[in-house]
Amino acid sequence: MNTIKHVAIIMDGNGRWGLKKKKNRNFGHKKGLLTVEKIIKQTIKNKIKYLTLFAFSTENWKRPKNEIKYLFKLLENFIKERIVEFNKNNIKLKIIGIKKFSPQLNKLLSDSEKKTKKNNKLQINLALNYGSKDEIIHTIKKLIKNKKKINEINISKSLFTEGIPEPDILIRTGNTHRLSNFLLWQIAYSEIFFEKKLWPDFNESDYNKILNKFKKIKRNFGKI
Ligand code: FPP
Repeated sequence: MNTIKHVAIIMDGNGRWGLKKKKNRNFGHKKGLLTVEKIIKQTIKNKIKYLTLFAFSTENWKRPKNEIKYLFKLLENFIKERIVEFNKNNIKLKIIGIKKFSPQLNKLLSDSEKKTKKNNKLQINLALNYGSKDEIIHTIKKLIKNKKKINEINISKSLFTEGIPEPDILIRTGNTHRLSNFLLWQIAYSEIFFEKKLWPDFNESDYNKILNKFKKIKRNFGKI
């Protein structure tokens, strides 16, 4: 049986969910946050050490201003409300992506990372202003600047995900079969699960089904 160290998730479908409920896209994001909370709890129950959530991509800046504003307010409130509890529950928060937000949000995120730095029950990697191509370019430039060899080990060690094992599982909800510039280097050998349900409808039982399916997969990593 495979053990699971790291699950990465593209939480897709909030906007469609909000519209389907005859409300608006932001209503879907708000409901999507409740799914985030459920999945964090379930990840701890399953003793998984790393959970990476794609919350905002480098491409998401092209969305309407009101949606961007809403998403960041949701994020800010979520961190402010939850960080003490995260810390109590031995959860570490790490941001992957370039922190180019308001000075207040940048500070909140950095302070939260610092505060939870030593925790080791679960590490939540929040991908914010994250794009995989951006990350790879950033990494290669850094290696060149430091006169390091461009090889697989050095690249892996210099990505935003430095020190984090590669995801065993990548889940994308929302019935869309694409990777959307998420962790392209890191998911080279991940098992990918595309889930029909929209993110706000995704629940603990759907998540556990995927985890159980994964446990039984024969992983060859190129061998036979
Ligand atoms: C994709 O759905 C979702 C996002 C771009 C944002 C994800 C945000 C959340 C789940 C809520 C906030 C989370 C945190 C951690 C604070 P979409 O809007 O692209 O959906 P669509 O495909 O239906 O348009």
